[in-house]
Amino acid sequence: MRKESRWIRWIKWIVIVTVLFLLGFCIGWFAKPSNTQNHKDSSHYLKDFLGEMKADKIREHLRKFTQLPHLAGTEQNLKYAEQIMKEWQMFGLDSVEMVPYDVLLSYPNESQPNYISIVDHLGNEIFNTSLAEPVPQGYEDISNIVPPYSAFSAKGQPEGDLVYVNYGRTEDFSQLQRVMGINVTGKIVIVRYGKIFRGNKVKNAVLAGAKGIIMFSDPADYWADGIQPYPDGWNLPGRGAQRGNVLNLNGAGDPLTPGYPAKEYTYRFSPEDGVGLPNIPVHPIGFHDAILLLNNMGGEIPPNNWKGALNVSYRIGPGFTDDFKSQKVRMNIHTNNQVTRIYNVIGKIRGAQEPDRYVILGGHRDAWVFGGIDPMSGAAVVHETVRSAGRLLSTGWRPRRTIIFASWDAEEFGLLGSTEWAEDNARLLQERAVAYINADSAIEGMYTLRVDCTPSLHTLAYDITKQIPSPEEGEEGVSLYESWHKRDNWTNDRDAPRISKLGSGSDFEAYFIRLGIASGRARYTKNAKTERYSSYPVYHSVYETFEIVEKFYDPSFKRLQAVAQVRGALIFLLADSQLLPLDVNEYADSLRKYAQSIAQLAQKNLRAMVMYKVSFDSLFSAVENFTVAARDFHERLQTLNKADPLQLRIMNDQLMYLERAFIDPLGLPGRPFYRHVIFAPSSHNKYAGESFPGIYDALFDIENSADPAKAWEEVKRQISIAAFTVHAAAMTLTPPA
Ligand SMILES: *[C@@H]1O[C@H](CO)[C@@H](O)[C@H](O)[C@H]1NC(C)=O
Ligand SMILES: *[C@@H]1O[C@H](CO)[C@@H](O)[C@H](O)[C@H]1NC(C)=O
Ligand SMILES: *[C@@H]1O[C@H](CO)[C@@H](O)[C@H](O)[C@H]1NC(C)=O
Ligand SMILES: *[C@@H]1O[C@H](CO)[C@@H](O)[C@H](O)[C@H]1NC(C)=O
Ligand SMILES: *[C@@H]1O[C@H](CO)[C@@H](O)[C@H](O)[C@H]1NC(C)=O
Ligand SMILES: *[C@@H]1O[C@H](CO)[C@@H](O)[C@H](O)[C@H]1NC(C)=O
Ligand SMILES: [Zn+2]
Repeated sequence: MRKESRWIRWIKWIVIVTVLFLLGFCIGWFAKPSNTQNHKDSSHYLKDFLGEMKADKIREHLRKFTQLPHLAGTEQNLKYAEQIMKEWQMFGLDSVEMVPYDVLLSYPNESQPNYISIVDHLGNEIFNTSLAEPVPQGYEDISNIVPPYSAFSAKGQPEGDLVYVNYGRTEDFSQLQRVMGINVTGKIVIVRYGKIFRGNKVKNAVLAGAKGIIMFSDPADYWADGIQPYPDGWNLPGRGAQRGNVLNLNGAGDPLTPGYPAKEYTYRFSPEDGVGLPNIPVHPIGFHDAILLLNNMGGEIPPNNWKGALNVSYRIGPGFTDDFKSQKVRMNIHTNNQVTRIYNVIGKIRGAQEPDRYVILGGHRDAWVFGGIDPMSGAAVVHETVRSAGRLLSTGWRPRRTIIFASWDAEEFGLLGSTEWAEDNARLLQERAVAYINADSAIEGMYTLRVDCTPSLHTLAYDITKQIPSPEEGEEGVSLYESWHKRDNWTNDRDAPRISKLGSGSDFEAYFIRLGIASGRARYTKNAKTERYSSYPVYHSVYETFEIVEKFYDPSFKRLQAVAQVRGALIFLLADSQLLPLDVNEYADSLRKYAQSIAQLAQKNLRAMVMYKVSFDSLFSAVENFTVAARDFHERLQTLNKADPLQLRIMNDQLMYLERAFIDPLGLPGRPFYRHVIFAPSSHNKYAGESFPGIYDALFDIENSADPAKAWEEVKRQISIAAFTVHAAAMTLTPPA
């Protein structure tokens, strides 16, 4: 009896221990899969999210939002804002609000049109450029089409001789002055559009002493071979012209409230003290009018690379040939600057686990006229992204982090809506923003994908495009990645599609270059090797209609669908991945490349470098430290216990704040709002990105410096700032203790 009970007791113990063991095992087994389960769900949701995005819906959105002109500050652009707000609410976002600012805009005077004339010796205007573009068929009855003008031009009626300065680039003006020996002071310059941002052309003209500047679209730069002008094809008609702002804001946003949001109570500079406003009249014309201005020009025949495709000599002047010497050119510009209310629309999806981490998808809504390509091809894509996100929410999904959707206003007037909102929310964003994805024009060509982004997003861009189908006909079953790789292979050192640095000229600027938030953009583009024209031919003209997209750029709307999927997948994975999909090793690789290339550039002056004891050793040391820190960080990620929310958050924060670590609060020399030490818009072309811009600009100044010793001191100072910043950024990747 006693023995038996002892046996039973033993058995009882064994049973209890076994049950407890099994229970523990089961808990462990169920707990762990609940993570992988989540993960599975997330990728399942991603599939649903991308699958929900429909080409036909994008067509509908584009149709709806390109019916009427909607210039920033006009009633129609407010109406579209209200419609977008209402529809985003309907789609199921948690909140949508309208955020107004009062910023400086610029409009032509309706009762006193802008034009350029040739005047005879009696002062009669014997030729006038056209006052408007011929309106495309079907749009004849539409009012409020703003004629081509240069926003923020100074007012005035300067009269004088013309000088032709090619593209108006730094190197063009320097060739004109140094090689051709022509002094532009007191002259009106005429330059062709293309190659660089128009504001840089205007700045160069002002610096050279010109009293006015005319910009024209040359067929050499705005015509594709074998394509008819719109509406029979997608080339720019001879009477079409490119609108656009001519500011040099360097990231300031509203010219009257630099650094601060343009609210009602905000202190405003007087217009004379506004940031970036040109002090000479500026005006754009089409090549039909340009021929008449260029036709009788005298002076030297320029080198061949100054000649466009018009049937004129492209003589540089100054002024007309002997037979026409008494004729002058007069600009009649009456454009007004005006503080005007603009409206951003901000929609949110609250994050489930990390609501205090923000992923932003933002793009502008304001257009020069209809905005068929710029920006509504992008805005239609954002609209479809919001609709799909809403559908996903209704099936029970909620992202880990908060997603913010933005419809920016007044991008065309200097990135104003996005910059004011960045200024308004700078404190929150620097603490909480994970990434910013830009959504301007989704298409500028019919060839392949184009991605520009910060290096830490390279890997994500490659990974997602492998999961998205190619939109090209005859490429069924081919991924977007393969299609893109085949068409735009990274030429240098790796076997992958090309990804470029971010420049500027769109709304990511304040987020990336001022605040240091990891940023990227994606769109469909042309074949850069064979299609030499700038941007796309009808850029910023009245011919950017819905029909140009429907007939030529994307009849099936599959290219726009693919772009929607790329932008959508970027925000989905940034918002919903447990571990942020940012790759620090890619940043290390890029830093090494940039350091090598800037050092190489400097070594063109090897003798001076030796003489002034200029060394890049500290920068290479910093890059090496960064590389080691990145590699170690990456290794620690492999052993990270993702079930430990605190450990996960620690490493996610390191990833999020890495981009922030490249910000120098003092900014670049003379450009206080460009604070990223690794990237800035080029000082010579806002559209292009420059790496190690502080060093680059210091090296550039060597050429023009009267005091080389001093100029090399600045190079040394910039190298030390870059080295320190890269090393300091590396330290943020090291283990917490
Ligand atoms: C526009 O031009 C008209 C006619 O010349 C003039 O009376 C008016 O003051 C101008 N408007 C502005 C805002 O300058
Ligand atoms: C140009 O416009 C001015 C002002 O409207 C007018 O006086 C002049 O006659 C015009 N010249 C031509 C050639 O049309
Ligand atoms: C150009 O001309 C202006 C006025 O005639 C003169 O002040 C200036 O020094 C000249 N510039 C050069 C580089 O010769
Ligand atoms: C170019 O212009 C010249 C002189 O104006 C003219 O004789 C010639 O026919 C034109 N050529 C073409 C191709 O239009
Ligand atoms: C890309 O270029 C590399 C060599 O530069 C080549 O090996 C590779 O096959 C190319 N890839 C594609 C898809 O064309
Ligand atoms: C790189 O790290 C080494 C070792 O910690 C340090 O001595 C060196 O100063 C660092 N380089 C820079 C540019 O800070
Ligand atoms: Zn745009």
